Amino acid sequence: MSDKREVLHVGIDLGTSRSSISASNGQRHVIESYVGWPLDMVARKVLKKPVLIGRDALENRTMLDLHRPLEQGLIKEGSEKDEAAVRELLWHLLSLVGVKREERGGTRVHAVVGVPAEALRVNKQHVRKALSGAVESLMIVSEPFAVAYGMEALVHSMIIDLGAGTTDFCVMNGRLPTEEDQRTLPQAGDWIDDQLLRHVNTRHPQASVSIHMVRAWKEEGSFVGQTKTPVLVTAPVNGKPTELDITNEMRQACEGILPPIVESMLDLLSKVQPDYQERVRNNVVVSGGTGLIRGLGPRLEQELQAVGGGKVRVVKDPVFVGSDGGLAIALDAPEDDWERLSS
Ligand SMILES: Nc1ncnc2c1ncn2[C@@H]1O[C@H](COP(=O)(O)OP(=O)(O)OP(=O)(O)O)[C@@H](O)[C@H]1O
Ligand SMILES: [Mg+2]
Repeated sequence: MSDKREVLHVGIDLGTSRSSISASNGQRHVIESYVGWPLDMVARKVLKKPVLIGRDALENRTMLDLHRPLEQGLIKEGSEKDEAAVRELLWHLLSLVGVKREERGGTRVHAVVGVPAEALRVNKQHVRKALSGAVESLMIVSEPFAVAYGMEALVHSMIIDLGAGTTDFCVMNGRLPTEEDQRTLPQAGDWIDDQLLRHVNTRHPQASVSIHMVRAWKEEGSFVGQTKTPVLVTAPVNGKPTELDITNEMRQACEGILPPIVESMLDLLSKVQPDYQERVRNNVVVSGGTGLIRGLGPRLEQELQAVGGGKVRVVKDPVFVGSDGGLAIALDAPEDDWERLSS
């Protein structure tokens, strides 16, 4: 007898810093990819919850064993806590769109999950494990492919998804991308944060600065190339809030990702069939939070001049493109493309 219960299709973008879900019931949510467990009995009494997720976890981090389980876009291996954290994240995302954990098997969920391109081989097993019991059918796709699908940039295009943990490239030829069409680099948002922290510490050794502070400064003032407005921030120096000019440090940290990104972009382009290269060059899509760096799109176009010129489109509101793309794939995919998970 066929199962008459309704199917809920979802697209999930499992990101290093943010994870989002788009569901066929119209719900869309994004959370920060943090999970934390109260450190001791005091923390448990204060927080009144066995586990905290997202912003809630980040804001209460002093009381928590805090995990950001996806590093460089991979589920950290060998750590039971990180595996548990991924499970918590995924269940939390599902609960946000109305799938109840208590009602195991209550809703039939068909999920498309996007992971970084090169993580596909190694990471599939982890994602499967984390989702078993939660979803009936699963499809794991590369993040940039999900973005391409969501943007309907499926033919003669190149997607560059600049996230927190990785920058992922994918050339679309109007069919499913193969391994040769895709590439992953470790230079992305987290890398910029590390560089910026280093540069600021070197320039202003007396200031106390944390990685969370530099990340917020970057999200406000990131740029490559020229800027008319200096980047001014406030940080404590010997306990006294002091204004610092970090314009040069910001430029240096943001421009640091350019050489490997330009190299991969040009290299992947050179591998496209010669008759289609010009069309792909004119159809470059930049997505992801790090794609919002001011001046990045024009700078990549400038670099494309060396090979005949091209056009770069930057996705202005990148938060849900990956999960929306995943949902679109879920709604279109034929029966045979899904893998069944035992619940
Ligand atoms: N305006 C901005 N300028 C520069 N960086 C930004 C800006 N806004 C957000 N970011 C950065 O974008 C990154 C988050 O982007 P995104 O949500 O696409 O990543 P993710 O999906 O979590 O990571 P990944 O795809 O690598 O797993 C963070 O590093 C964040 O600091
Ligand atoms: Mg991402």
